[in-house]
Amino acid sequence: MYSKKLQEIIRVDHAGEFGAKVIYAGQIAALKLKKDFETLKIVEEMKKHEDVHFDFFDAEIRERKIRPTAMQPIWKVGGFALGFFTALVDKRAAMACTTAVEEVIDEHYKSQLDAIENEEELKNKIENFRQEELEHRDIGYENHAADLKYFKPLTRFIKTTTKLAIAVSKRI
Ligand SMILES: [Fe+2]
Ligand SMILES: [Fe+2]
Repeated sequence: MYSKKLQEIIRVDHAGEFGAKVIYAGQIAALKLKKDFETLKIVEEMKKHEDVHFDFFDAEIRERKIRPTAMQPIWKVGGFALGFFTALVDKRAAMACTTAVEEVIDEHYKSQLDAIENEEELKNKIENFRQEELEHRDIGYENHAADLKYFKPLTRFIKTTTKLAIAVSKRI
């Protein structure tokens, strides 16, 4: 049996990477609808990373027999809607969605790296993923996330929601 702490870490990361995948899936659906193929290419590239991140935690959760979050159906709908509507309204809103989420995830992964003991392989993976999340954040800013008129309130909303989702997914 793994420690409660380690179970929470893997459960929440599994949930988070799932959330990232569905946010991008929502954005991709909206960008196809809008025929914005330039932004689509950028988002599809980031989603490929999220697929790898998710697959890693999905294998971990199976191998270690850790219960996944019961909130998955809700994150699926909520994440998809968030991605879909931000991308539909303005591609810069889609990018702001990425910058906000990745800034929270950077902190989240950093605090996990401090907390995990004796799990070198897991820590290496989390550090690699964190680096890729930072690349996503940079891509968001390079694509003018901060030029959005309501960048600040949107960022505040998404960060609060992401932190709430993290808190809930650890335990439930
Ligand atoms: Fe990720
Ligand atoms: Fe990411």
